Amino acid sequence: MDILHYQKSFLNYLESKNWIQEPKNLYEPIDYILQLGGKRIRPILTLMAANIFSGNFQKALPAALAIEVFHNFTLVHDDIMDDAPLRRGQATVHEKWDLNTGILSGDAMLIMAYQYFENYEPSVFQKLAKLFSKTALEVCDGQQLDVDFETRNDVSIPAYIDMIRLKTSVLVAAALKMGAIVAETSDENADLIYDFGLNLGLAFQLQDDYLDTFGDPETFGKQIAGDIIENKKTFLYLKCLEIANEEDQQKLTFFYQQKLQENSMKITEVTQIFERYDIPSLVQKQINSYTEKAFETLSDMEMEATGKQNLKQFGLWLMNRSV
Ligand code: IPE
Ligand code: IPE
Ligand code: MG
Ligand code: MG
Ligand code: MG
Repeated sequence: MDILHYQKSFLNYLESKNWIQEPKNLYEPIDYILQLGGKRIRPILTLMAANIFSGNFQKALPAALAIEVFHNFTLVHDDIMDDAPLRRGQATVHEKWDLNTGILSGDAMLIMAYQYFENYEPSVFQKLAKLFSKTALEVCDGQQLDVDFETRNDVSIPAYIDMIRLKTSVLVAAALKMGAIVAETSDENADLIYDFGLNLGLAFQLQDDYLDTFGDPETFGKQIAGDIIENKKTFLYLKCLEIANEEDQQKLTFFYQQKLQENSMKITEVTQIFERYDIPSLVQKQINSYTEKAFETLSDMEMEATGKQNLKQFGLWLMNRSV
């Protein structure tokens, strides 16, 4: 079954729910962010994994919804933390409403995410809730590190990789493992598909960081160069710092200590330095290497060839995205 089919089934399920309740100021922002679109990567992975291990993805729909609602909660709070004006081409929740709305609607979404697990029998419920709690806390760890790194100038590439593992990869990995749990496959399969997701998630966040600076502003849907504005210590910055000459190193560290009202000069200068050192192709190399690593995990997995084929196809689709 192809990716778009899973996406469509998920969207039908999402739209079958009645999102808007009283009080409107709590639920309208939830409806807004959930209907704003997005690639729906995580629920697709949950459904795909369930189908691979049991031949039935319908049973995984509530788990898929849990992970997408949780993901959207993290985006609402992330946009507050990153001071981001745009999400999926539209105003972010805290911009369209206000800060307090973003906080409380986000909190409600986190709780709603857990409620969808009530659709499962006790043994599956317990496994899902346990994995989910561990993952959600790791995402918080990663988000805190991401913010801490903004004002640190001693961040290493391994520390960055560990930060993106926490803020992004574990959720991608958990999405797959939740599909495996619902399908009640072996623990070994569930762990292997989790490892596949970890490496895929690293490639995914590296590409997010690449697109943040080098994506097409017409289609990207987020503010271009938001990471430069916020002094995010991404792979682009850290790698460039490692290979740049002293003058460019000093320029970079100088720019990344500034919080400015007007950012166009900073963005142009930093982007030019990145380009001078071929950072776009170096990031691309890293993305390919983590994707390859993910594909290697697949070869150890006990599953039908079509399952592996689907997961590989998904990885390639992810790598070639522009949004
Ligand atoms: C954005 O995730 C946040 C990251 C972890 C990079 P997505 O790129 O999956 O966002 P949507 O849901 O498709 O908009
Ligand atoms: C997102 O990292 C991680 C989480 C939302 C947990 P980013 O801050 O890079 O995500 P975008 O670029 O805003 O989507
Ligand atoms: Mg952000
Ligand atoms: Mg962020
Ligand atoms: Mg980003």
